[in-house]
Amino acid sequence: MGKEADMHDRIANASLRTRIMSPEAAAALIESGVTIGMSGFTGAGYPKAVPLALAARIEAEHAAGRPFRVRIWTGASTGPELDGALAKADGIEFRLPYNSDPIAREKINRGQMDYFDMHLSQVAPMAWQGFLGPLDVAVVEVTGIRADGSLIPSSSVGNNKTWLDRAGKIILEVNRWQNAALDGMHDIYYGTALPPNRVPIPLIHAGDRIGEPYLRCDPGRIVAIVETDSPDRNLPFDAPDDNARAIAGHLIEFLRHEVAVGRLPAALLPIQSGVGNIANAVLGGLVNGPFSGMSAYTEVIQDGMLDLLDGGQLAFASATAFSLSPEAAARINADMPRYRDRMILRPQEISNHPEVIRRLGCIAMNAMIEADIYGNVNSTHIMGSRIQNGIGGSGDFARNAYISIFMAPSTAKGGKISTIVPQASHVDHITQDVQVIVTEQGLADLRGLSPKQRARLIIDRCVHPDYRDAMADYYARALKGAYGMQSPSLLAEALSWHQRFVERGTMREG
Ligand code: COA
Repeated sequence: MGKEADMHDRIANASLRTRIMSPEAAAALIESGVTIGMSGFTGAGYPKAVPLALAARIEAEHAAGRPFRVRIWTGASTGPELDGALAKADGIEFRLPYNSDPIAREKINRGQMDYFDMHLSQVAPMAWQGFLGPLDVAVVEVTGIRADGSLIPSSSVGNNKTWLDRAGKIILEVNRWQNAALDGMHDIYYGTALPPNRVPIPLIHAGDRIGEPYLRCDPGRIVAIVETDSPDRNLPFDAPDDNARAIAGHLIEFLRHEVAVGRLPAALLPIQSGVGNIANAVLGGLVNGPFSGMSAYTEVIQDGMLDLLDGGQLAFASATAFSLSPEAAARINADMPRYRDRMILRPQEISNHPEVIRRLGCIAMNAMIEADIYGNVNSTHIMGSRIQNGIGGSGDFARNAYISIFMAPSTAKGGKISTIVPQASHVDHITQDVQVIVTEQGLADLRGLSPKQRARLIIDRCVHPDYRDAMADYYARALKGAYGMQSPSLLAEALSWHQRFVERGTMREG
């Protein structure tokens, strides 16, 4: 290998090296008004240089009085160099399918950015259906380019296969920070199609490989290659507090009971764990739990999942991305070949595929903002209006899981708001998709119960003592009132529960 080849050793295809350029030159190839499919899922595998250069270009265009905005599709959330920088530059006109960036969140809630919050399994199929419009550009981070032009994916797969297949122009970021030993971990399935040509997904066990390790890419559409050496946005998790530990304890007790009565196998069924600190704490609880030989069929591999793999409780994990703290990212990077044999990263249309989740019988464990006494769950909107993040994959898993569990501390905002309310201010998951609710107070197994039975159990088991009497009183009056029917409700009073918190000045509005 010559000196030039050594410098670009992540790009094994010599003819593609001629397309290496600066992030600024690559960003200059993007026009205002286009739709861009970017890689990235929960802060892993998103492009880090081209979006920043594009944001700088947008700011310069705006300063010169020229409008410049683009439409951004991704896998899920990304990092400050992408959503943060482009939102700050006021450069995003439309965004899908999930966002957790605070600057973008403010723009969305102020009505300065349109946001289509959607089930993550549906992004690729909907992109193919065509009603979202054409995809003009793909900006995708990869670990390397192979001699045959195929791509070694990085720390997330997300919708990259679809973006590369559909975009008119392709810009690749080859990130040297991504571990070269990721090569071989991925499983890219090329068998999906739209009806009437859809066929069954041939995935029977969480660890099955059904595709190829590499992303196919038409070299004729690659217009730029940018080399980077930048870490993913690896954020630390909070240490589990008393609430998180109590929630984990109730959940493990419930799972242990299900095994004891023969409704779950001793190694459980493949677990899915949602995003955030509570979900990570539950995984931490399983490290000291009684289960071994477990598998995970989930969206993201968090720190807790790594601990379970290291502890031997978890035999295998399938996901679409990593979502790790800096320490866990260093841990995995130091020992990638060993982890690689016990993990698979897949496209999100497969990691979250309803057919596969139903077949495997996943145990879905997701965090929530609030639930009502009938078990309707709000995962997305604070006070029914202000978007927090998005539904993400929670709907993909909740509706199709073997057991669908939602969890949250019983109060939020330092105890000023009950997370169990008479009526959810926004519903992402209807009662039929919610089988178990857990707070630090206790666990309500709602399976097979009528609305009135559910209400009594949730009030009894899950509501914080500070709110329990008021909730029981509300329910008793609702039962006796004019609308004390199948699901008793005092409509105006139910919603005034939320209003009271606004009046106490505990909610940030807008
Ligand atoms: N009323 C008002 N505010 C509430 C609230 C409630 N009932 N519950 C939470 N909040 C606020 C918190 O105070 C916090 O606000 P702050 O940022 O101003 O402090 C914010 O909402 C986030 O709450 P937090 O407790 O930090 O949540 P989390 O990190 O555990 O995440 C969800 C909880 C629901 C937001 C998160 O899990 C999510 O986005 N879920 C949807 C997507 C999903 O489930 N994906 C997984 C599928 S694989």
